[in-house]
Amino acid sequence: MSALRKDFLFLCPNTIIVARAKNLPKLTHLEIIDISSDGRAVGKTENRVVFVPKLVPGDVVDVQVVRKRKSYFEAVVEKFHEKSKLRVEPFCSHFGSCGGCKWQHLSYENQLYYKQKQVREQLVRIGNLEIPEIRPILGSEHTQHYRNKLEYSFCDRRWFEKSEIEKGEAIEQQGGLGFHVAGRFDRVLQIDNCYLQQEPSNAIRNFVHEFCLASDLEYYNPRQHTGIMRNLMLRITRSKEIMCVLIVAEYNDKIEQLLTELKHQFPEITSLQYIVNTKKNDSIFDLDVKTFSGKDTIEETLDGLRFTIAAKSFFQTNTLQTEALYNQVREMASIDSNDLVYDLYSGAGSISLYLARYAKKVIGVEIVEQAVQDAWKNARLNNIENVEFIAGDMKEVLTNDFIAKNGVPDVLILDPPRAGIHKDVIELIASVSPKRIVYVSCNPATQARDIALLGSDWKILVVQPVDMFPHTHHVENIVLLEKI
Ligand SMILES: C[S@@+](CC[C@H](N)C(=O)[O-])C[C@H]1O[C@@H](n2cnc3c(N)ncnc32)[C@H](O)[C@@H]1O
Repeated sequence: MSALRKDFLFLCPNTIIVARAKNLPKLTHLEIIDISSDGRAVGKTENRVVFVPKLVPGDVVDVQVVRKRKSYFEAVVEKFHEKSKLRVEPFCSHFGSCGGCKWQHLSYENQLYYKQKQVREQLVRIGNLEIPEIRPILGSEHTQHYRNKLEYSFCDRRWFEKSEIEKGEAIEQQGGLGFHVAGRFDRVLQIDNCYLQQEPSNAIRNFVHEFCLASDLEYYNPRQHTGIMRNLMLRITRSKEIMCVLIVAEYNDKIEQLLTELKHQFPEITSLQYIVNTKKNDSIFDLDVKTFSGKDTIEETLDGLRFTIAAKSFFQTNTLQTEALYNQVREMASIDSNDLVYDLYSGAGSISLYLARYAKKVIGVEIVEQAVQDAWKNARLNNIENVEFIAGDMKEVLTNDFIAKNGVPDVLILDPPRAGIHKDVIELIASVSPKRIVYVSCNPATQARDIALLGSDWKILVVQPVDMFPHTHHVENIVLLEKI
């Protein structure tokens, strides 16, 4: 037996390449041993990692490799030999096809375990950082119906399940209203019941779908850019204010009828709006929003603070868990009444307003003009005067002149997008000396990179993962840093 062969058997005694389809191998008895940071199950052969969707650690399977790279395979399951003890029965009938809650087959306890593990691995492996013991991840009190906002897409071609196709019945091409199937911008999975948002979310979506079918309202075709019905956005607050926004390619009598019917069928909708989008993309930030009935905003509260939310506003989607996250930020920031705080990447200013009640002054910086306007509005709504919001790209706004003008911050809050912080911004932050930095991140990999770039003058005091999105692989992480 060759050395390679022995090595191979040592590493994966039950995994033997038995077939090659189109030069791509099948692997038998592959044991899933971990979950990758992007949520895919991981197995190993002698010289490659194998990524397989929809599995959990402990599963033993035969897989067909569908993509081969230098260091890894991507594969799909062909046969189960053993199902992992970590598995639970998914509660949603759309599980498997829907790109939404991909971890439903893993118990919530184990979801939290793997999220915590992901945070530790990213900080240590990518950042090569010295970290204290990570605090136990804060799980979400609600693991269903936790989102305050959902955006559905209409598509003239709905996704057909394999089982539907296998039944052999004639399949008529039909439109779907739901979520895009992972990796398919031109196919939408028809959703009948979604567990992400409270009622009447499902009732409204199903009503709209039925109405459109009965009235021959054409669903959008994203390849040919034909059809009228494009998107449906629903926001529901804790006090049950409901915003329903219909996005259409043209406004006509049938749309007016649909909105009129919606208003009658769902009198609980407090803000019924529509947007006409004739562009080839789905973004709405540059489009006018028309109010059909009710108000043009809804209101949510966080820890007693009021927030006005318009159709285009940014607002954290898991309201209850946002309070848990912000409470952690407040505790770590440990602000006193003389402190100047910079809230960088401030969105609609919710962290700024949360902390302003304890600080001398908070300055928020954010690139989206509309979010900055919302932040000012929310400050006024809450009679908070010790805040200032500045619109602009961080690397252009946060300069030495800015610091000379506004003062050296005592505390810095960082909450950047997934891509993390621009290296010029990191350099500037490293050169000023705040007492502490609280870095909130939805991507521990870029967080680890950024903290490493800050340099060795900073010590990590606390690492606190928070689960904002149950049944997904996403994890939020807060790190408290102090200058040594
Ligand atoms: C994760 S969100 C933070 C939201 C806010 N802290 C909250 O809790 O609601 C990141 C924010 O960074 C903003 N952003 C992205 N790139 C930016 C840049 N180059 N300069 C300033 N802000 C930016 C985004 O518009 C977004 O509002």
